Amino acid sequence: MKGIILAGGSGTRLHPLTVAVNKHLLPVGAKPMVLRCLEKLIGGDIEEIAIVTNPEYVSNFSALLKSGKKYNCDITYKVQDEPGGIAQALSLCENFVGGDNCTVLLGDNMFDDSIKDDIINFNGDCKLFFKHVPDGFRYGVGVFDEENRLIEIKEKPKNITDAYCAIGAYIYNNSVFENIKKIEPSYRGELEISSVNNIYIKSEEYKVDYKFLESWWTDAGTIESYERANLYAYDEYSSTI
Ligand code: DAU
Repeated sequence: MKGIILAGGSGTRLHPLTVAVNKHLLPVGAKPMVLRCLEKLIGGDIEEIAIVTNPEYVSNFSALLKSGKKYNCDITYKVQDEPGGIAQALSLCENFVGGDNCTVLLGDNMFDDSIKDDIINFNGDCKLFFKHVPDGFRYGVGVFDEENRLIEIKEKPKNITDAYCAIGAYIYNNSVFENIKKIEPSYRGELEISSVNNIYIKSEEYKVDYKFLESWWTDAGTIESYERANLYAYDEYSSTI
């Protein structure tokens, strides 16, 4: 299993915090945001990890993480020239993943549940994770039938409030790279990860598994959610002292 942290994008919803600093290097509690993803991957016994980021920030990430030796992993840095979307950022890791499986984390997502067993026992084509949110219009959200079977993910559905967000953690086998090649840019000009996930969900060819998180989850892409991430991190810290 390879690990991938997507840490590119433009971070405009966090301006001016992210004018001179990459979002994923901002502090959340006592550590930079990206370390939280790194710890999740290492916790799943993953030893080879790629970090995808913008050209101007590669040196900042390598100053922090270096070769990965301190974290008992081997880190590869990949450059996304322009923020072309999550699936486009992931496509840059095709050679890195090779014939292996990959666990992909969005660098601005944080959660408490362990996904170690999901990583270690993965033997399907795609595994997704969901969490209830009150503001579904901000995310990719799952549509389920009466028997709780996942039938679609809708990306940023207008006017949807209570919903199950497809959080920024995905496990794939290497068919993901072929499937990224099949999708078209969305209305916002990006290659969306939800378009890729819908290929898996809608085709009988693939084995898709999913799980609902039990503990807290948040993204940190807006001022409000960044503040929430810091509150969770504070609770985590204060419970250990
Ligand atoms: O937070 C979960 C949500 O993340 C999912 O429910 C959505 O399905 C998914 O599309 C995504 O939604 P956002 O609009 O919030 O994603 P955002 O553009 O903020 O990108 C999330 C992370 O992905 C960001 O922290 C860095 C990485 N990224 C994003 C883009 C657009 C890249 O590395 N390159 C990119 O080009």
